[in-house]
Formats: sequence, C-alpha cells, structure tokens
Amino acid sequence: MGSILTAEETLDPSFVPPRLVQRDRELELLGKRFRTSLPKGIPYHHLLTGGVGSGKTALAKRLAQDLSKSARAGGKPVVAHYVNCWRRSSDRTVLLELLRSVGVSLPDRGYGVPEMMDVFEQGLRRNPAHRLLILDEAGALVRQETKLVYLLTRSGEVGLGSISLFLVAPDDILPYLDAASRSSFGVTHRLQLSAYNAEDLRAILSFRAGLALRKGSYSADVLAQIAALAAPTGDARFALELLGGSAHLAEEAGANEIRPEEVRAAKGSIYPTLTESKLEDLGENELLALLAISRTLRGPRARTPTDRVREAYKAAAEEYGRVPVSRVTFWRTLRSLEREGIVQLESTGVGEAARVGMDEVPASYLTTVLETKFRRPSARKP
Ligand SMILES: Nc1ncnc2c1ncn2[C@@H]1O[C@H](COP(=O)(O)OP(=O)(O)OP(=O)(O)O)[C@@H](O)[C@H]1O
Ligand SMILES: [Mg+2]
Repeated sequence: MGSILTAEETLDPSFVPPRLVQRDRELELLGKRFRTSLPKGIPYHHLLTGGVGSGKTALAKRLAQDLSKSARAGGKPVVAHYVNCWRRSSDRTVLLELLRSVGVSLPDRGYGVPEMMDVFEQGLRRNPAHRLLILDEAGALVRQETKLVYLLTRSGEVGLGSISLFLVAPDDILPYLDAASRSSFGVTHRLQLSAYNAEDLRAILSFRAGLALRKGSYSADVLAQIAALAAPTGDARFALELLGGSAHLAEEAGANEIRPEEVRAAKGSIYPTLTESKLEDLGENELLALLAISRTLRGPRARTPTDRVREAYKAAAEEYGRVPVSRVTFWRTLRSLEREGIVQLESTGVGEAARVGMDEVPASYLTTVLETKFRRPSARKP
C-alpha cells in the first residue's frame, strides 16, 4: 500500500465520480430536460458533444444514475443501459450488447437485425421500464449508415416500447443521420460541453485528489502546475493521469508528497489516452500502417497519397522485421482504420487511389509513440 495513493481505484477511468465539479449547470439542465418529458411518458432523445476529456462519458453516466434513482416515466421506473460503440460500430454489434443488457445472450453470428430487434423487444417486455440508452462514441456507429438509431428514436411506433436515446460523440454527428432521426434532436436536445480551462481543471484535480490521495501529500501549487499542463487541451483525463503518474513517481522516490519534478517527469512519460487506449486495441498491422501514415504526413490537416503510405509501410515493416501484407490487405487495413475514426480516406475518384489524412493526433507525436511501442520487446514477435 502506497503512502500517497490511498484510494487509487478512484482514479480509474471506470470510476464515476460522485460529483462533477464545474458541470453542475450542465447536469441540472440535462436532468431538467428529461424530467419535463419523461413523466408524461414521452421519450426524450439527446445528443451530448464535447472535446476529449471534457467529461462527456462521466456526465452521461451521472445523469443515468440520477434518473434511474429518482425519475419516473409515465409511472414506470427508468432503467439506463450504457454501450460504448467505439469497438462495436455496426447495428448488429451494438444490438448484441443491448440484448445482453436485457439479459439475452445470442451467438455473434446467425441473426439478422430484424430478428435481433424482435428478441430485444421480448427482453424489454419481460421487464417493463422506460429505457435510457446511452450510446457513447456514437460517431463510429452513425458513420456506418445506422438504421438502429432511427428505429430507436421511433421506438413507440416500431413496437419497442418507450426508449430515450442519449448519443455521445466528440462532435456534431447529426449530419450523418437521416432526416427523420435528425428531427428528434432539435436545439433543446443538444448540448455541447466547453473545454475545461486551467481554473476548471484545478477545481477538478482538487476534488479528485481529495478522493484518491492522502491529505497533505499534494500542494495547491502542484495541482495548479498539473492544471496548467492540461489546460491547452482542456482534457480532464490527461490531468488525472498526470496526477496519478506523479503520485506514483513520488511514492517510488520514497517522498511523502508530490513535488514539481515528479509532475514534470510524469508529463514526459504519459501520452493522452485518446491514443493509448485506442492503440491498445489495434493489431500489429494496423499499427504499422498508422506509423507509415504518421511518417508520411507533413503538417496538420495534410493529406498524402496511399501509394506513398504503402511505400513507407513496407519500409517500416522491414525496419521492424515484419512481413508486409499484400496490396489488397493493406487497403483493407486503411479502410478499417478509417472505420475506427482514426484516419480519413479521401477518394480521388479512380478506384483505390485515395489520399490519407489523420486530423485527430499530431503526426510527430504518434510517430514517437508508435516507434517506442515497436521498439519495446513486448511488441516484438518471439
Ligand atoms: N467535472 C468533473 N469533475 C470530476 N471529474 C471529472 C470531471 N470531468 C471529467 N472528469 C474525469 O475526467 C476523466 C475524463 O472524463 P470523461 O471520460 O467523461 O471525458 P470524455 O469527454 O468522455 O472523453 P473522451 O472524448 O475521450 O471519451 C474521467 O476520469 C472523469 O471521471
Ligand atoms: Mg468518453
């Protein structure tokens, strides 16, 4: 047991904090919107957007907990279900997850969407309640021309009972929806979270340090230092990772409090989980392709032809002793990175010829991260 991190589990990304500092207004507004509609038995659909680490997921989960505890919808209780669509970006895979949430488990294959909807309906009927379905990282789903979102926003008409849909995404995804679904997300059905500034982050850090760390093991100065480092991106997750990282380093050094040098060291070793957690899910070939893309891209918002990327890919494969995949498989790899929302493919109109871009992550930064990853012995083939 460390002497500083007395409740480290409260820094885990899965932990939903009991209070969302500096988001009281937003939480109240969302609560009010749902509470005006639900008691009348009317589903309420909502879109929540905001940058990385702006508290979208935490806010959605808090709202779900609040509504499940106290709201009634047309006399029925509110039951919330949370699905992260990042890895499950098709109607079928999201439905499988929703089915699990109503206690039905189907094999991955062999069922079409209509049959699965039937089974879902039966599952819902067994346990009558109003459902609040949170689809987090919904961008991946709506870019697949989802029918599911439409069906869910029309739950009453398609016999699915009463369902409110809560979509969470980094940016406005309504343009990807069909007009009928879009009509469910008018101006009072949308909320864009502003990025946290240094002052917000300081308040968040102070609250979260109070939960996770021993009193007296951190100073206001150290929290302000961390807040300043995270302020350019407004990313609370990054701020909390820095806090946890510097606490670990201080413990390792046998210190009984976090010092500015530990914060600096933590900053040097942590990259935003935007990339980290998502990179962990990618296969080696996808990672190599991504390295090739980041090596060929010059400057933000730049685009590079796919054959240039493929050359860089072959060079990288050779460099790390991997066998490069065929042209067709390489193309498929690019398409799968595009589906994941990591890269953008722009068609030039002639067959496979296209240009690749990567707007979310700085290329130089990703290059460093990936090169380190490939150099690590654990990433090597035996
Ligand atoms: N206002 C807040 N008060 C306390 N903790 C917060 C607050 N906002 C965010 N956090 C914490 O910061 C971390 C990041 O927040 P969250 O995961 O909700 O961001 P996000 O907007 O969903 O990010 P992403 O776009 O990467 O999914 C979480 O650990 C969350 O608990
Ligand atoms: Mg999130």
